[in-house]
Amino acid sequence: MRVLGIETSCDETGLAIYDSGAGLLAHALHSQVAVHAEYGGVVPELASRDHIRKLLPLANRVLGEAGLAKTDLDGVAFTAGPGLIGALLVGAAFGRALAWTWGVPAVAVHHMEGHLLAPMLEEDPPAFPFLALLVSGGHTLLVEVAGVGRYRVLGESLDDAVGEAFDKTAKLLGLPYPGGPELARLAEQGDPGRFRFPRPMVDRPGLDFSFSGLKTFALNTLAAEGDDDQTRADIARAFQDAVVDTLAIKCRRALEQTGLERLVVAGGVGANRALRGRLLTLMAERGGRLYHPRPEFCTDNGAMIAYAGSLRLAAGQHEPLLISARARWPLEDLPPLGA
Ligand code: KG4
Ligand code: ZN
Repeated sequence: MRVLGIETSCDETGLAIYDSGAGLLAHALHSQVAVHAEYGGVVPELASRDHIRKLLPLANRVLGEAGLAKTDLDGVAFTAGPGLIGALLVGAAFGRALAWTWGVPAVAVHHMEGHLLAPMLEEDPPAFPFLALLVSGGHTLLVEVAGVGRYRVLGESLDDAVGEAFDKTAKLLGLPYPGGPELARLAEQGDPGRFRFPRPMVDRPGLDFSFSGLKTFALNTLAAEGDDDQTRADIARAFQDAVVDTLAIKCRRALEQTGLERLVVAGGVGANRALRGRLLTLMAERGGRLYHPRPEFCTDNGAMIAYAGSLRLAAGQHEPLLISARARWPLEDLPPLGA
């Protein structure tokens, strides 16, 4: 089965073609960084308009790269939520309409299920069951994964998502949007011994997270210490160390509670080298294994949507002739496959 995947939940337009037999045939991504940079963050209306401009050219590009005609496709998968509702509706309308004209089924994909299954696109993918740490700009989730659509959310952020905390802290350090990767780069020049930020909620039982206090900590430190370049780098380092440490502590706790031996880290912050290094060490100590997508499939992309959609389409799931999208959509609401 060959599926066209469409991702438009936020500020990247991602298209891809996944073949259940041959694997990923083509993928293309357009980042809207240049569109939003001057505003210091994503402007939803501009995001929607830019998706409209890019979808058709990118769809043609992946078809060309895969050497396929549109009649070679067996289905269309589009991100239907969670995300920016206008941006989602652009992808949903485009995907649903394409499927209708081509006479093939369409399937609505949950963006976080896309992230969760992205490591399956790599060689030597994880077997079920596993623990998944999903860290993106909008969500921080610890999920016990028994199979596709068999998800139990063990913990989540009560306020800012990890990526959001990275972006906000980056902004107050004067770094350009999108701040996460910029902050990570700056942290590499920081002295790890100068400041120590708190590890939020690790002293309490449970697996939920809270990251909004860290940016305030960063702001106060900046105000108290002056804002020379080295201080900024030291703050970035202290912030990143606190986030990475907190995530690792909660992962270890969740692994102990569930007895799972495989850990998946995915979502935009999954591209963070310090985080991956730390989780790699954690899993090595425990005699388990860490799995993660290649960095370009940690951040938003069409490949993960084409893949997740291909599994659901192959299991017979598809959408009625309706265009629908959901800004909010709990992961646990998804139907299990093969139940
Ligand atoms: O998954 P994603 O591409 O989009 C959402 O679903 O939100 O995640 C984007 C988030 C942004 O907050 C971005 O700053 C962050 O992931 N991010 C990073 C890194 N690369 C992306 N944060 C820290 N270190 C990175 N290397
Ligand atoms: Zn995402």
